[in-house]
Amino acid sequence: MSKIKVKIPATTANMGPGFDTLGMALKLYNEIEVEETYTETEIYNDNVKSSDDYKDNLIYKSIINALDRFHYKYNGFKINVIKCDIPMSRGLGSSAACIVGGVSAANVIMGNRLTIEEIISIATDIEGHPDNVVPAVVGGMVVSINEDGMVNYSKISMPGQLKFAAMIPEFEVSTELSRKVLPEFYKKQDCIFNISRATMLVSSLYNEDFNSLRMCFDDKIHQPYRNKLINNLDSIFAKSKELGSVGEFISGSGSTLMAVLNKDEDNFVNKMGEFLNQLDDRWKIILLKPDMEGVKVM
Ligand code: HSE
Repeated sequence: MSKIKVKIPATTANMGPGFDTLGMALKLYNEIEVEETYTETEIYNDNVKSSDDYKDNLIYKSIINALDRFHYKYNGFKINVIKCDIPMSRGLGSSAACIVGGVSAANVIMGNRLTIEEIISIATDIEGHPDNVVPAVVGGMVVSINEDGMVNYSKISMPGQLKFAAMIPEFEVSTELSRKVLPEFYKKQDCIFNISRATMLVSSLYNEDFNSLRMCFDDKIHQPYRNKLINNLDSIFAKSKELGSVGEFISGSGSTLMAVLNKDEDNFVNKMGEFLNQLDDRWKIILLKPDMEGVKVM
């Protein structure tokens, strides 16, 4: 059977105030090849066979999750991860990339019977929230509403000159842990704080109004509680502001921190790189542009 090649972008979710709602695809990619076989499933990393149990593999689990919903009969798959540039457990959508890659491959295996909306619904059901999987599927910056499993989304018009400096530490933060530290209930003022900023963020991007952008990335729903999981967050955010960013936020549930830039990106990356090098943990910084296309099946 023929090989299905899938290229999936990284994603940054929440973008400050848009907890479980806002997300954006980035030009940083994983690529997988999936082939249906008559034997048991095998996982390869760049053509080297993995000894890990395939049943724990998220790409595999996502393929069969989608196939089972349509009672598609299968024996196994050869899954080859040919490129893995999205760092794992760093808040850049590595799980969403596995899920979207797996569901997209399953769609081809079933003769392309799924609509984009169905791919998104299945992927969101597996992931539990839509803010990474939707931009991974459709590209760009996206607002998503998950209404009882039906995901509605709308792409946001993005000023072309914005770039995103991802500051990625060596330490991981698991999404499970970073969701556990969040409270069950919020004060009314905190809800108003976030609603005003999330809506102003969308409006400012649409109007290309960078003056009010900084306050739009503030958040009281998740970042204050996750601060303690990410060493040096406050000093990195302060340095980013000093170096001229238009805002910063925790990427997804962390551990990556994101600075939003509209000028002097190279200077920012050099100076911030020097600053990060002085910290106790090892950090790397990469400059990313939004990906506007989303998943590609070849
Ligand atoms: N919205 C999710 C969270 C993204 O912040 O927990 C995690 O990938």
